[in-house]
Amino acid sequence: MSKPPILVTRRIPSSVLRTLEEYCDVDLHDRGDLPHDQLLTRVAGKQGLLAVVTDAIDRGVLEAGRDLKVVSTIAVGYNNIDLPAARERGIIVTNTPDILTESTADLTWTLILGIMRRVVEGDRLVRRGQWKGFTLDFMLGSDLRGKQLGIIGFGRIGRAVAARAPSFGMRVAYASRPGRPPAEPLLASDSTSAIPVEAMPLDRLLSTSDVVSLHCPLTDETKHLINQATLMRMKRGAYLISAARGPIVDEAALVWALENRLIAGAALDVYEREPEIHPKLTTFENVVLSPHLGSSAIETRTAMIDLAARNVIAVLSGQPAITPIP
Ligand code: DGY
Repeated sequence: MSKPPILVTRRIPSSVLRTLEEYCDVDLHDRGDLPHDQLLTRVAGKQGLLAVVTDAIDRGVLEAGRDLKVVSTIAVGYNNIDLPAARERGIIVTNTPDILTESTADLTWTLILGIMRRVVEGDRLVRRGQWKGFTLDFMLGSDLRGKQLGIIGFGRIGRAVAARAPSFGMRVAYASRPGRPPAEPLLASDSTSAIPVEAMPLDRLLSTSDVVSLHCPLTDETKHLINQATLMRMKRGAYLISAARGPIVDEAALVWALENRLIAGAALDVYEREPEIHPKLTTFENVVLSPHLGSSAIETRTAMIDLAARNVIAVLSGQPAITPIP
């Protein structure tokens, strides 16, 4: 029996490729990004598509891939996929939730600590040969203890970020989409005690938090959620952290807020037009910029790729997808 043809848009570990090849006829693109016009051509006749967050799986791709049964993205976020168009065609779309939650929460705390304790700024200064030695008032950052961490989007990753807050002595507030039921209690790692978290309307969260960290998905409602108006509501000494999706922050508005010292700083892992970054953002010392590293730990990335491949195999062998997007 012939194997179902699939397109894999990025290089994947050879062990996963071998497993895929046992079940599928694999067309592998392993030389960097797959340009959109090539994606349109190569998806034709394929039953499966294994893709990444930077592949725009729009209506055109889904039309060109009229034989597609499954689109599997190696990511938890799926704003790059036209879900309604996939549903109209009965294509199953899968993602890789859960396995990247802890890595992304760790990266978020790396950003929080990095910006509040000025580690990256200090590293730059040391490398420029400008460190003159210890003085009592040199490069003072902010303590985390006693401060409020405001989390926007209290899903898996937001909650994992919140769960680490007591270790740093921070209290947690969160704001979710209006109309969402109250969040389940957040259990400490010993699972016996609950970590206190306070639900707040977005406005109050912005005006009372010392750190505002974004963990909501990118949707029409959350695009530019952080804009001039919301930045103006933040405390003057507050930090903005973003490891969710770039377009949630209006980068031009953030530059304006930093120029006008409306907030103390920002640490970003994601950008509006990756890999481009608003050029002015790179000029501020009180900004930390990491290149979309949220889930990029070797163990996590390997598990994500493996799960994404298993989703393709499951669907093409007539089994239910392991982690379908509901
Ligand atoms: C995700 O999973 O959505 C990350 O942004 C990409 O790994």
